[in-house]
Amino acid sequence: MQQAYHVPVLLKEVIGGLKIIPSGTYVDCTFGGGGHSKKILEKLNPAGKLIVFDQDEDAWKNVPDDERVIFVPHNFRHLQRFLRFHKITKVNGILADLGVSSHQFNEAERGFSTRFNAVLDMRMNQNEKTTAADIIKNYSEEKLHKIFEKYGEVTNSKTLAKTIVELRKAQSLRTINEFKNAVYPIVKGNPEKYFAQVFQALRIEVNDELNVLKEMLLQSVDVLEVGGRIAVITFHSLEDRIVKNFFKNGNFEDEQAQDLFGNKAGNELKVITKKPVVPSSEELKMNPRSRSSKLRIAEKIKVSEE
Ligand SMILES: C[S@@+](CC[C@H](N)C(=O)[O-])C[C@H]1O[C@@H](n2cnc3c(N)ncnc32)[C@H](O)[C@@H]1O
Repeated sequence: MQQAYHVPVLLKEVIGGLKIIPSGTYVDCTFGGGGHSKKILEKLNPAGKLIVFDQDEDAWKNVPDDERVIFVPHNFRHLQRFLRFHKITKVNGILADLGVSSHQFNEAERGFSTRFNAVLDMRMNQNEKTTAADIIKNYSEEKLHKIFEKYGEVTNSKTLAKTIVELRKAQSLRTINEFKNAVYPIVKGNPEKYFAQVFQALRIEVNDELNVLKEMLLQSVDVLEVGGRIAVITFHSLEDRIVKNFFKNGNFEDEQAQDLFGNKAGNELKVITKKPVVPSSEELKMNPRSRSSKLRIAEKIKVSEE
């Protein structure tokens, strides 16, 4: 049996949370297998519109032949630019279901999974230049250390960076097996968990995942109609913290910005989900990949100008 391209997570919760207006305009920033998009389209009438982004060529074949759909084969960090290109200034809702699809993860040669052996690639957009193997080969020890520490919370990130720089002088670390076997002697704790953290760090760096998220969030406020909603599904705490702070404070810090007089600067978003929505036990059973997903939703509000 052929594996599904991707099983959408928190589907009911996302669709309910977006409060879809049938004639509205919506954006799916992360089209993938189109599971969320399909449900959004079911809620839209012929006047509705759905703009879908995906930077991975593999996802393009899933785009439905539907007049209401505009497909943007680019990074969602250019959200506003491409909406303008299609003469769209405001939308009623935005969805981002972050990270990689099951398809990307299950294709050995994409190099995302610790389960297979292939070149350490990890590019969602295969037209980009830098792969994970390039990072391992070329980054300085300091830079590698920071990435493993910040993006993977790898316990011995300094030792790992030092080991890589030492080993790469004499041997190739281009493939998953070469890399895993070479650094195995310094692995701390459960190797599976350890490599999952290391791979997460590399993937975030290869795809600049935290910056693209921040850029999209900043633009989303401009692009949303008052009353429009943004829903973001994250899969690790670094992303979730960014979304949480942005929805609550209008910036990426823990506190709302204040003006010179100590007044809170106007945040144009209102948090709808005080706590993140997580998968039900039924969903976890049916789709274990939904395990670490967290959904947060915010609504654009009108801020009075004083
Ligand atoms: C978790 S999957 C989304 C699955 C989708 N919701 C579904 O139901 O099938 C994430 C998808 O978004 C794409 N993606 C991730 N980050 C992106 C970005 N910054 N710009 C454009 N596409 C992105 C990936 O290539 C992948 O296909």
